[in-house]
Amino acid sequence: MKRILSGIQPSGQLHIGNYFGMMKTMISNMETSDLYVFIVDLHALTSVHDKERLGQGTLEAAADFLALGLDPDRCTFWVQSDVPEVCELMWVLSTLTPMGLLERCHSYKDKVAKGIAASHGLFSYPVLMAADILLFQSEIVPVGKDQKQHLEVARDIAIKFNNSFGETFVVPEPAISESTAIVPGLDGQKMSKSYGNTIPIFLEGKPLRKKVMSIQTDAIPVEEPKDPEKCNLYALLKLFAPAEQLAEIHELYVNGGAAYGYIKQDLYELVQDYFTDARTKKKELLANQDYLREILHKGANKARGKAVETLDLVRNRVGLTY
Ligand code: ADP
Ligand code: TRP
Repeated sequence: MKRILSGIQPSGQLHIGNYFGMMKTMISNMETSDLYVFIVDLHALTSVHDKERLGQGTLEAAADFLALGLDPDRCTFWVQSDVPEVCELMWVLSTLTPMGLLERCHSYKDKVAKGIAASHGLFSYPVLMAADILLFQSEIVPVGKDQKQHLEVARDIAIKFNNSFGETFVVPEPAISESTAIVPGLDGQKMSKSYGNTIPIFLEGKPLRKKVMSIQTDAIPVEEPKDPEKCNLYALLKLFAPAEQLAEIHELYVNGGAAYGYIKQDLYELVQDYFTDARTKKKELLANQDYLREILHKGANKARGKAVETLDLVRNRVGLTY
C-alpha cells in the first residue's frame, strides 16, 4: 500500500477549492492506501496571529474532514504541532536548503503581495512543508496546482540529503488532478482563504445563495453564444452538476440562451444539496469538542511513532549523536 500524505492550513473556513483540490482525493484514498492527513497549524501561524481564531480553526478543520467522510480508524489524522519532531527535522533540512531555492517560490511572493507580513517563517514555509512530507516517508502527496512548486522543493531537499548523507528519505511524488487543479473563486482568480473569494463548504441557505449570486461573469447578452470553458461559473458548475444537467447548460452556452442568473440559482441548489449530510454531521461533531480532541490526540500518538523512527535515523546520519 502506498503512503499518501497531505495537510491543510486552519487559517480560515475551508472552501470548495480545498475540497475538490485536496480533501476529496484524500478521503477517497482511505481504503486503498496508508493515509496520513493533518492540520498544519504551525504553517497557519505564518498568517494568523490570533489565539482564538487559530485554535477554533484547527478544531473546525478537523470537524470538516470527519464530517466529509474521513474515518480516523482507517488513517492517521492529527494536528501538526502535536508532533514536535517536525520542527527538529525542519532545522536539519534548512541547513542544506539553498537560499535560491526558496527565493524562487511564487507562493511566498504572492502572499507578500497580498499583504501577509514577510516573516522568516513565511520565507521558510516550504522547508517546514518538506519536513512534514519527509518525516513520514510519504510516497504520494495530493495537492492543488498551487502547491506543485513546494513539492519540487521537498523533492530537491530529499535528493540533496540522500546524496550528502546516504539513502534516507523517500523522494515524494505530487498527485495533482487536472480537472480540479485550480478551482476558481468568485472573482475568477484561484479560490483561496487569503483572497476573500471563497465559497465555504459548510455555508448554507441565504448566505450561500448570496455568495453564488456574486460570482463574476461577463456582460455578453443572454442570446449570444459564449465559450463555457472561459466561464468561471461554468467551471464551478462542472464540479457539482450531474452529466445530463451539465450537457443541457453546455448547449445553452454554445448556442445562446445561457442566462447567468438562472445558472447561478442551479449552482446554489446543487451546492446546498451536495453537502447536506456533511453539514449535519459537522454540527454534531462541533457539539462534542472533547470527542474531537480525543480523536486528534490519538492520531498524534500514532503519527509520533513514525516521526521518532525517521528522526532517529536522521540524527544518526548527520551526526547528532555522540
Ligand atoms: P488556501 O489557498 O485557501 O489558503 P491552502 O493553501 O490551505 O488553501 O490549501 C489546502 C489544499 O487545498 C492544498 O492542497 C491546495 O493546493 C488546495 N487548494 C486550495 N485552493 C485551491 C483551489 N482554488 N483549487 C484547487 N485546490 C486548491
Ligand atoms: N502548504 C500547504 C498548503 O498551503 C499545506 C501543507 C503543509 C501541506 N504541509 C504539507 C500539504 C504537507 C501537503 C503536504 O496548502
